[in-house]
Amino acid sequence: MKHIAIFASGNGTNAKAIIEHFANHPEIRVALVLTNNPSAGVLKIAHEHKIISAIVNKNSLNKEEVMMKVLNAQKIDMIVLAGFLQLIPAFLLQNFPKKIINIHPALLPKHGGKGMYGLKVHQAVLANKDTETGITIHYVNEVYDDGEILLQKKVVVDPNDTAELLSAKVQQLEHEWYVKAIEDLLR
Ligand code: GAR
Repeated sequence: MKHIAIFASGNGTNAKAIIEHFANHPEIRVALVLTNNPSAGVLKIAHEHKIISAIVNKNSLNKEEVMMKVLNAQKIDMIVLAGFLQLIPAFLLQNFPKKIINIHPALLPKHGGKGMYGLKVHQAVLANKDTETGITIHYVNEVYDDGEILLQKKVVVDPNDTAELLSAKVQQLEHEWYVKAIEDLLR
């Protein structure tokens, strides 16, 4: 059995899709949900699915002994970022080489980087008059939204789209494709 940790800071719709997808999976299990935000929706979802959760502040996130203790306790093989808004510290990259992935709601390298999340990303797509947007799943490195790209899926930007409409379209792609990318990497 491979064990995943999901790191999330917000609503947790991706975390929910991943948890539900792997709930009865023969080879992959979500073993930990970790957040920096005590009011993150993802904590309720973890609780409902009886998944162990951890709240870590920025200070603890950057302490190797704290983080490795939490992750090793659940024998974590892979870390999946799902709307996690903190930078991943170097020691985690070293301990999980090619085993930390992120999803971004745009076609990187466009519209990524620090502070680019949520509706801001979709507003940037509209402001730039892009005709298409989508999702990017990529390995995590020491820079926000910058690691090697594993998968991109596109969606057309319609003339009438608002940031909210784009967000809904993109989230649908995220929920469909993130679980597939995780399965491929753990195979
Ligand atoms: C997702 O759309 C994800 O792509 C984005 O945060 C959202 C979290 O939504 N991540 C980034 O923007 C990373 N730069 P969720 O909490 O509903 O899963």
